[in-house]
Amino acid sequence: MTKLLTSLFAVLVASATGFASAQTPAAPAPTQPAAAPTAPASASVEAKVAMCIGCHGIPGYQASFPEVHRVPLISGQNAKYIVAALNAYKSGDRKHPTMRSIAAGMSEQDIAAVASWYEKQGTGALEPAAPLPQPNARVAALLQKAACASCHGTTYSNPVDASYPKIAGQHKDYLYVALRSYKVDNNPVVGRNNAVMGAIARQFTNAELKELADYIGELEGEMQVQPQSRFR
Ligand code: HEC
Ligand code: HEC
Repeated sequence: MTKLLTSLFAVLVASATGFASAQTPAAPAPTQPAAAPTAPASASVEAKVAMCIGCHGIPGYQASFPEVHRVPLISGQNAKYIVAALNAYKSGDRKHPTMRSIAAGMSEQDIAAVASWYEKQGTGALEPAAPLPQPNARVAALLQKAACASCHGTTYSNPVDASYPKIAGQHKDYLYVALRSYKVDNNPVVGRNNAVMGAIARQFTNAELKELADYIGELEGEMQVQPQSRFR
C-alpha cells in the first residue's frame, strides 16, 4: 500500500512537472557546461519550482498520505530553514515519503535556488508593533513552559536564527502534524529526528500540542500560498 501510494505520487509529480515545464519559456543557453547531474544548470528557478506548485501553490491543497492535512505554507519562509528542511528529507531525518523522494532528486544548487525564491514570495514583514491576540491562560502556560518565543520570536514570525522556521499563521492542521511528528520514533513513514524540537514536543500531550497549533495558526504571519496562476 505504501509503495503503491508512493509511486502514485511519483507519477503525479512527474506529470505535473512535465506539464509545467512545457509551459516555461526556454532558459538562456548556459555559459558553462552543467555541473549537477540531477538538473541542467540552465534550468530557470521557475522550472525548478514548477514541481512544487502542484502542492504548495494551490490554496488549501491537502496531502492525503500518510495523514490528511493541508500542505505547509512555504512562500515567505526563511530560506535557511527551507534548505535545512529539504536536507532533512534528503537525509531521512524527516520521514515524509513524498517530500523525501522530491528532495532526493534535488542538487544542492537546486535547493539553494528554490529556497531563496520561496523566501521572497511572502506577504512582507509584519508590523513589529502589532499586538498579538492574547492566548487563554492555559495556552499561555504551555507557551511559557517551553519558551517557544525564545526561538520562534515574539511574533512567532521572527525567529532568532534564520535556520529556525516562522510558524505564525502556518496551517493549524499542519502545525499539529509537524509537532506530533517530532515525538515519533521507529516509524518508516512518519517522524522527524530533531534533537531540539524532539525534546520540546515530548513535554506535551497531543491535546496540548493541538492547543498550541491552534493558537499559533491563528496569528498573523508572513507566509502565504503563491498561487499557481502567477506562472501562467
Ligand atoms: C505531492 C505534493 C508535494 C509536492 C509536489 C511538494 N511538496 Fe513540499 N511538502 C508536501 C507536504 C505534504 C509536506 C509536509 C511534510 C511533512 O509532514 O514533513 C511538505 C513539506 C515541505 C517543506 C517543509 C515545510 C516546513 O514548514 O517544514 C518544504 C521546505 C517543502 N515541502 C518544499 C518543497 C519544494 C521546494 C518542492 C518542489 C521542489 C515541494 N516541496 C514539492 C507536499 C509536497
Ligand atoms: C531552542 C529553540 C526552540 C524552542 C524553544 C522551540 N522551537 Fe520549535 N523549532 C525549533 C527549530 C530549530 C525547529 C526546526 C526543526 C527541524 O528542522 O525540523 C523548530 C520547528 C518547529 C515546528 C515545525 C515547523 C514547520 O514548519 O514544520 C513547530 C510547529 C514548532 N517548532 C513549534 C514550537 C512550539 C509550539 C514551541 C514551544 C512549545 C517551540 N517550537 C519551541 C526551535 C525551537
